Amino acid sequence: MKTTAGLRKMKENKEKITMMTAYDAPSAKLVEQAGMDMILVGDSLGMVVLGYDSTIPVTTEDMLLHSRAVRRGARDTFVVVDFPFLSYQTDRTEAFRYAQRVMQEAGANAVKLEGAGEAVMTLVEELTAAGVPVMGHLGLTPQSVEVLGGYRVQGKSREAAEQLLADAKALETAGAFALVVECVPEPVGALLSETCQIPIIGIGAGVQTDGQVLVYHDVLGYGDVHVPKFVKRYAELSPVIEDALKAYVHDVKEGIFPGEEHRFTMKEEELAALYGGSK
Ligand code: KIV
Repeated sequence: MKTTAGLRKMKENKEKITMMTAYDAPSAKLVEQAGMDMILVGDSLGMVVLGYDSTIPVTTEDMLLHSRAVRRGARDTFVVVDFPFLSYQTDRTEAFRYAQRVMQEAGANAVKLEGAGEAVMTLVEELTAAGVPVMGHLGLTPQSVEVLGGYRVQGKSREAAEQLLADAKALETAGAFALVVECVPEPVGALLSETCQIPIIGIGAGVQTDGQVLVYHDVLGYGDVHVPKFVKRYAELSPVIEDALKAYVHDVKEGIFPGEEHRFTMKEEELAALYGGSK
């Protein structure tokens, strides 16, 4: 299993870091078998699994339930779990209790939180000091989508890019072991990776970041959630699943399933006794 130090070493050695989301045991198992460096139990859970329009309705209990399942499916992969919407900004004790549950009950290795600012920096510092590895998340931060005015590219002006750089450095200083940077121009992703010592994991941040993360369902073409420009589809599972389910409906209706090979038999004499000798 990777460690925070190992991930840092990978950056130093210019070895790209791979990360993907997972939300349940079978997806986590497949992600682990593919040799992924890290799994993210992202609050994208809300959209791709729970059927919400955004990440905002996702609760800490949702995250914990799915994180436990992910750990059962992937016992040997570094697992990072998102703090959901407004679960860490207002109450330090609540944030600590969640981090404790994520690590003790779900067996995760780290937490991730979005944004910058004083309260976030203090929390990153305190969690890290208490032994909780923290991953930051800058750029397009989906929990702030209402403030950002939609899912749009961030850091496009010089001022905005400089602010991102300052926030990334501040998170690094506060103790974050890595950052996700979402939906920024490629040169900004590159500059962040060059400037920071900690790994920068990009999503829609170009090819020059230290690693990449994508959402499992987006990569596999599973579900009907809008797919952003920065996603590469490696499979189209939805039509495959739909065809299989339609074939099942057809076979049941037509008496084709279950076939001989799916049925159980019993001894002739037991059958005869069952029917009182009438068969
Ligand atoms: O919730 C999530 O899946 C994420 C990724 C988009 C990085 O934060």
